[in-house]
Amino acid sequence: MKRKRIGVLTAGGDTPALNATIWGIVEEANRRDTEVLGLMRGYASLLGEQVPAVLLNPLFSSIPELDSCAGGTILGSSRTYIEPDSVEMSRARSNLQRLELDGLICVGGDGTINGMQPLTEITPCVLAPKTIDNDLGLNYSEEATDWVFDTDSGQSKLVPSREHIQPADIINYATPGFATSVFVVVQSIDRIRTTAESHRRIAVVEVMGRKSGYIALGSAYAQPDFILIPEVPLDLDALEQQVRRLYEIQEHVVIVVGEGVRLPDGTELGAAEQTHDPAGNIKFSGAADALVGLLRKRMGSECFDRIRSGEPAEAAFFTRKIGHTQRGGRPIQFDRFYGSRIGGKAMELVAAGDSNQVATLQYTDETGFHFSSLPAHRLRDSRGTIHARTLHPTMYDAGRMQMSDFGRDYLHPIFSNAIGWDDVEFIREETFGGGNLTRRFQSANVDVGKRVRLL
Ligand code: F6P
Repeated sequence: MKRKRIGVLTAGGDTPALNATIWGIVEEANRRDTEVLGLMRGYASLLGEQVPAVLLNPLFSSIPELDSCAGGTILGSSRTYIEPDSVEMSRARSNLQRLELDGLICVGGDGTINGMQPLTEITPCVLAPKTIDNDLGLNYSEEATDWVFDTDSGQSKLVPSREHIQPADIINYATPGFATSVFVVVQSIDRIRTTAESHRRIAVVEVMGRKSGYIALGSAYAQPDFILIPEVPLDLDALEQQVRRLYEIQEHVVIVVGEGVRLPDGTELGAAEQTHDPAGNIKFSGAADALVGLLRKRMGSECFDRIRSGEPAEAAFFTRKIGHTQRGGRPIQFDRFYGSRIGGKAMELVAAGDSNQVATLQYTDETGFHFSSLPAHRLRDSRGTIHARTLHPTMYDAGRMQMSDFGRDYLHPIFSNAIGWDDVEFIREETFGGGNLTRRFQSANVDVGKRVRLL
């Protein structure tokens, strides 16, 4: 009997948990005597004359380059997507048919689901979620249909029909990649805090997340003084007042700002540029700098005179954009464990012939974390659009510009056991053990590249 062959690709922005998810897929496939063909650089792999691909489990054991503890993806990624009824689509169709796949697992976020949709006509496709932004999912099962389209502005707006939610209501509680990203953010803020404290400065730290404030929410573990999220329009008067008051007391302030934060008129604080991503994803930059510009103008220099005697008021502020460090490097225990398990779940679904399904990580207080799945269309609103999941209003306290009690209840299950002893120990043993001084960095791209075949 012919053995089953499943394809896997990673698409969109990378996360630290991608290799863990691929590893989970391959381990589950090994148990099922199924071949796994890794397609290189996401959907871009399907657009050429031939498909660059690597067999991830020759003789049903994983290739050694597949390390669940390594960040990034050995398959490479791209933000290339395939439009239905396009030339690319017919190329992808014939390539997929030639590969004789029994299914395809796409590891990605909302943009990846849109890219996957047309391919479901050719082979069963399942999504294994990943995104550091934690924006793939729903706060409650009917949330997608609560998006209302306003014809005047041409924009959709979420009008939540559920005032309160429970952890068990959340579809896809946390996405592999998110926990490591928060870990990096928290460590960065800890370090920024002490320098702001010593030099009596106001630090504004910009974190990723696009239109979703989950990473900003997670920064609460570093105890920033204020957390500003994209979901709640910025109240500059209130912020200025609270910053002034706190600066007087503790002589420094730390503010975290989610990159997509908006002014009350809806405009983004940082410059926003449209990307080519069919999910309509927008690239933000400059929210922290823009916020400092506004605060500086409002606060003037008097409030710094006493505390920073003689030093220019402008120097009292500094910004730090944590940037791509929050998306890279070694995944922490939570992401390794649940990233690989969700890969296994996706493999299970595709092996059962399910198509256009999303593997999900669920949580209830009674059972802890467990896995489930959801038809991808349940994430779409009445117009067929998938919106980034945003923080439910009960997760944030807009008055204090801080995480709310429910926000804390939400984070607790993820982070109470997210970090393994080896997440810290590897720095001592691996990074500073001495070996790095005697050998060059060895990129998986080189070793995996030797295994790539054009099929
Ligand atoms: O979606 C993940 C993400 O890291 C966002 O948080 C961020 O806005 C964006 O990707 C950055 O994209 P790029 O890698 O193209 O700069």
